[in-house]
Amino acid sequence: MLLPFVMTAAFILLSLPVTTVHSATVSSTPAQTFLGIGGSGAWWPHDLFNFPASVRQNLSSLLFSDSGLGISSYRYNLGGGGVGVSNPVRAPQTPYVSPGVYNFSADPQGTFFLQQASDFGVPGITMFLNTAPAPLTSNGDSCGGQFVSGSGTAYATYIVDVAEHWRDAGINISYISAMNEPDSTFGPVPCGQEGMLVEPSQRSEVVSSLWNELNSRGLSSAIGILADETSSTAVAPTEYSAWLPEVVDMVAHLVHHAYDFPSDANYLAYVNAAHAASNGKTTWMSEICCSLGTPAGTGRGYSQGFDPTINNALMFAGLVFQSFVVGGEAHYDFWTLVSNEIGCEPLTSSTCVTTANSNGWTDGMIYYDPDYTTNGNFELYLVKHFWTYKHFGNFVKPGTQRLPLTGSDANTHTLVVSNSTTFSVIAMNPNTTTSTLSLTFPQTVCGTTGFRTSASEDFATISPATGSGETWELPLSATSLSTYIFARKAC
Ligand SMILES: *[C@@H]1O[C@H](CO)[C@@H](O)[C@H](O)[C@H]1NC(C)=O
Ligand SMILES: *[C@@H]1O[C@H](CO)[C@@H](O)[C@H](O)[C@H]1NC(C)=O
Ligand SMILES: *[C@@H]1O[C@H](CO)[C@@H](O)[C@H](O)[C@H]1NC(C)=O
Ligand SMILES: *[C@@H]1O[C@H](CO)[C@@H](O)[C@H](O)[C@H]1NC(C)=O
Ligand SMILES: *[C@@H]1O[C@H](CO)[C@@H](O)[C@H](O)[C@H]1NC(C)=O
Repeated sequence: MLLPFVMTAAFILLSLPVTTVHSATVSSTPAQTFLGIGGSGAWWPHDLFNFPASVRQNLSSLLFSDSGLGISSYRYNLGGGGVGVSNPVRAPQTPYVSPGVYNFSADPQGTFFLQQASDFGVPGITMFLNTAPAPLTSNGDSCGGQFVSGSGTAYATYIVDVAEHWRDAGINISYISAMNEPDSTFGPVPCGQEGMLVEPSQRSEVVSSLWNELNSRGLSSAIGILADETSSTAVAPTEYSAWLPEVVDMVAHLVHHAYDFPSDANYLAYVNAAHAASNGKTTWMSEICCSLGTPAGTGRGYSQGFDPTINNALMFAGLVFQSFVVGGEAHYDFWTLVSNEIGCEPLTSSTCVTTANSNGWTDGMIYYDPDYTTNGNFELYLVKHFWTYKHFGNFVKPGTQRLPLTGSDANTHTLVVSNSTTFSVIAMNPNTTTSTLSLTFPQTVCGTTGFRTSASEDFATISPATGSGETWELPLSATSLSTYIFARKAC
C-alpha cells in the first residue's frame, strides 16, 4: 500500500501549479487610527438628480450603505455659481446672492445628495469649494481668476453662513475645505470647471478668516478646517512655508491630492515633509482619479482612458494601500465616485461598460450614460473599482486601527484593520499566479469568512482562512483583492 500512496502524492505535487507562500507577523501595536473612506459629490449630482426616484435611492444606498461601498466620508461641493464655466454639469449654482443674502433653494441637485449622505448616516461630511462665488473673485467669474487679498472675511462669512444653515437643518458638516486645488485658475474663461487660484502667500488669510469666523460662532471645535488640497505631493511641501506656519494651529488636517502619482519613496517623503512642516498633523489623501497602469502599479500617471477591468481597479487599490501602509495616512477619498466619462455607448454595445477604451476616463466607481436625456437610459453601471473600493469602505471604518505587518515577506499590499472584536485582513495579489499569505496574529483568532473581487468575482463570499490559534493561511487567487475576517477569540 505504501508505494502507490507515495506515487500518487508525488504525482499530485508535481501537477499542482506552484503556490508561493509569503509569511508575516501581525503586530499587536496599532499604527494609525482611521478617520474615513470616501469621495466627492461633484459633478454627477447635476445629472443624477434628474434620474427616477428609485434609481436615486439605489445610488444613495450603493454609495452610503454597507450593502454598497459604505463610505464614511462624503465631500459636498458648495458651488460658486458656474459663471464662465462652459460645461453645465460642472457649473453648480451657489446660494450666494449678495453679502448676507442667500437662496438656499439653489443647487437642488447638490443639496439633495448632501441630504442623502446625512440621512444614510455618513459620519464625516466635508463641504469643499473650488472657488468663491463669482462676485468675490478677481475677475467676477467662477474660474480663471484668483482670490482677492482682503476678501477673506467676506468669503469666510459666506462659507460659515452656509455651513450653519445645513447644520441647523440637521446635516452635520464637520469639515470645511475652502480652497480645492488652489494651485490653478482652471482658466481661461470659458473654463471646463470651476477654480480659483489662491497664491501660497494668500492661503493663510483664507484659513485664518475661516477660523476666526468659526470661532466667533462657537464652531471652531465642531468644524475642522482642511487645507490646502494642492494637486501634487511634490508641490505641496514646497509651498507650506509660505502659509502654514502662521495658521498651523487652525488647521485640523493637512489634505493633499496625488495627481503626480508618486513612487512609494516619494509618497513617504511627502508625508514626512508634511509632518515636519506642521508639528505632526495628520495628512489625508482627498482626491485622485484618472490613471491607467498595471495591478502592481507600473504605468501610473494622470491620463485619459477608461479601464473598468480588474487590472485598473487593483492599480487604484494599490494607491489606497500606498496611502495607508506606506504613508501611514488616516483617510482616503477618491474623486467623483460617479461619472459619465464612459467613452462608449452602452445601449449599442453590450461590452462597452466592461471593456477598456481610450475615449473615456477612469474617474468613477459607478458610471451612467452621458446620453440619458435623449435615450432615457437610467442604468447605473458598476465597474470593478466599485467592488475593490467596497473592501475598504466596508472594513476601514472610522475608529478602526491599522496593525502593521513585520517579517521579510510583509508587503505593502496587505492591510490589517482591527476593532475590539475583529481583525479584517485586506490583501491584494497583483500577480497572475496564486499565492498564500501565512499570518501569525498577536493572539488566538478564528477565521470566520472572506470576500473576494477578481476578474470573475464581485465581492464574492469565499471560504474563511484555514488554521488555528495564532497561525492562519489566506489563499490569494491570481489578480484579486480579498478580505479575510477573523474573530478575536478561539473558534
Ligand atoms: C433660488 O434658486 C432656485 C433654483 O435655482 C430658483 O428656482 C429660484 O428662482 C431662486 N430664488 C430666487 C429668489 O432667486
Ligand atoms: C458631528 O461631527 C463631529 C465631528 O465628526 C462629531 O464629533 C459629532 O459627534 C457629530 N455630531 C452628530 C450629531 O452626529
Ligand atoms: C441598483 O443598481 C445596480 C447596478 O446597476 C443593480 O444591479 C441593482 O439591481 C439596482 N438595485 C435596485 C434595487 O434597483
Ligand atoms: C468590527 O468590525 C467588524 C467587521 O467590519 C464589524 O462587523 C463589527 O461590527 C465591528 N465591531 C465593532 C464593535 O465596531
Ligand atoms: C507578486 O510578485 C512579486 C514579484 O515577484 C512578489 O514580490 C510579490 O510578493 C508577489 N505578491 C503576491 C501577493 O504573491
